[in-house]
Amino acid sequence: MPKSAPTMRLDRYLATVTDYSRSEAKRLIKAGEIAVADRVTTDPGYPVADGDDVSLQGHLLRPPGPRYFMLNKPPGYVCAAKDRRHLTVLDLLDEDNPERLHAAGRLDIDTTGLVLLTDDGQWSHAITSPQRQCWKRYRVGLAEDINDKTVEHFARGVFLKDDKARTLPAELEVLGPREALLSIQEGRYHQVKRMFAAEGNAVVTLHREAIGAIELDDDLDEGAYRPLTKEEIDSV
Ligand code: URA
Repeated sequence: MPKSAPTMRLDRYLATVTDYSRSEAKRLIKAGEIAVADRVTTDPGYPVADGDDVSLQGHLLRPPGPRYFMLNKPPGYVCAAKDRRHLTVLDLLDEDNPERLHAAGRLDIDTTGLVLLTDDGQWSHAITSPQRQCWKRYRVGLAEDINDKTVEHFARGVFLKDDKARTLPAELEVLGPREALLSIQEGRYHQVKRMFAAEGNAVVTLHREAIGAIELDDDLDEGAYRPLTKEEIDSV
């Protein structure tokens, strides 16, 4: 028997694609304001199939597509949906329903730079999943001069305090005695700070410049954001 197309009750569909509550949606349906595939229906349980056109007073309603943004995170903001003490990166967005978005890979409160925000869980999983080994590049300022052996140690992997496995090979490009670019393919807790701590050094500034092929846009001031381009979205 052919499998039938997935459907959603009309009242739930309306509550999903508009700001109406389920009870307001029911009222609109019963009042004959809603048409599915050009036919008015007054049944709140009417099954809407994928691809069906639903209109409200003649205006076509579209389910919102997934959203993708890059943000230049300032210090002092946390990458969380809610925080009792601090502002969150979602507070920087001027978008509808910002609470539906999440950061694909967190930064510490004092770390600045590239944060990707989306409501597409599969897409963000491709960035954060340890199996996918997505490279992240950080510009790091250090308290002490970088040890001659650190490039080699990071390339081989180092043991972080309290972790059993060595870090995966990482690339360190030394830019000055106390400045470097570090590319890592994992996202362990405080990873960059702990890697330098393992070398007897301390991170004083940390700025994420890139995630995979997505580079932080130079035009974005701290706290500013923009939608990702199709090419950036597809690069993940
Ligand atoms: N590594 C850290 O230590 N902190 C960050 O915010 C990101 C990577």
